[in-house]
Amino acid sequence: MRITDLPTPQVLVERRRLEANLDRMQGAASARGIRLRPHAKTHKSPVVARWQIARGAVGICCAKVGEAEVFAAAGIPDIRLPYPVNPSNADRLLALMDRAAISIVVDHAAVARGWSAAMARADRTLDVLVKVDVGYHRCGIDPAAPGAVAFLRDVAALAGLRLRGVLSHAGQGYTASSVEELERIARTEAAILRDLAAGARAVGVAIEEISVGATPTARFSVNEEGVTELRPGNYAYFDRTQVSLGAARLEDCALTVMATVVSKPAPDRIVLDSGSKTLSSDAARGFGRPSGHGIVFAGLEAPEPDPRLHVARLSEEHAVVLVEGGATNLEPGDRVRVVPNHACVVSNLVDRVQLVDGLQVVDTLDVAARGKIW
Ligand SMILES: Cc1ncc(COP(=O)(O)O)c(C=O)c1O
Repeated sequence: MRITDLPTPQVLVERRRLEANLDRMQGAASARGIRLRPHAKTHKSPVVARWQIARGAVGICCAKVGEAEVFAAAGIPDIRLPYPVNPSNADRLLALMDRAAISIVVDHAAVARGWSAAMARADRTLDVLVKVDVGYHRCGIDPAAPGAVAFLRDVAALAGLRLRGVLSHAGQGYTASSVEELERIARTEAAILRDLAAGARAVGVAIEEISVGATPTARFSVNEEGVTELRPGNYAYFDRTQVSLGAARLEDCALTVMATVVSKPAPDRIVLDSGSKTLSSDAARGFGRPSGHGIVFAGLEAPEPDPRLHVARLSEEHAVVLVEGGATNLEPGDRVRVVPNHACVVSNLVDRVQLVDGLQVVDTLDVAARGKIW
């Protein structure tokens, strides 16, 4: 089947680009002896997870227990949840531990005690890492607080838990304004974790793992001493944001949305059938503060994007594209491809994506863990 036989909007994943992206990140991590544990949030597909593991990944990450359940049922043997999972999920986690090696993060004393009690009751041991705030200010203990090392020591002492190490996510990289700032963020992240690990080891707490992970900073994190694990997710597909942050080239972006022009109210305004229900409403991020909702390739075989086409506005089923500085030849019925701002949320919006090789559909991937929000 060819992509022109598919209805639109349609999420396409260029197989060769995906494979090249997986190879490149695995190669970068392996070359430095760092274990790669990709975050599966981007593809949510056990098939892609198996490709990552076949290339050398030690396992995957998921955010929610429901996602982990999908991957464990599909036979993925090692799953880490770098998300503050609440002990109210203990029964489901215990069931998961029968199917796969499971680890979670903790960053709160009462939560850690809750997990300890649940595991001790079940006579099981759960691997945990302490989540550390390295400047994103979302989750994680404050590494500069006087009690940071004591927190690690206390977690290590809890029955039913095995402290494996420290973990962070430098999500602030997404708002960096230069390559230099991104590199600084990656260096600071690693230094914070190294120092904390050293402090813990000094009081007799074993720290085996130092886990960092985000696609924008991955290229710098691999050069950092002491880092044992890298957890990027977006790198599998990449997107406009990663291009704007210098983490990928446009030709690395594996995921695109194929859309059809459905209206042309004026020579300089066309409407695509890919609204926020396909492209998502996630804003553009990156150096130079890009605007709009994606990069448009005018035509399915266009080798270069048309810089005049600006996806200015989305409603649920409409993308309003303004033609800067004149008219476009695109007419209703014509098809285009859009590199979205954020690939992870786009794949979460569809049941399946089409794996393609140029214009040819080679397979269909179920986004099996999509929508598993609990
Ligand atoms: C805790 C954690 N680790 C790793 C990742 C992967 O980061 P990225 O999507 O930048 O590759 C994320 C992404 O949200 C995350 O929240």
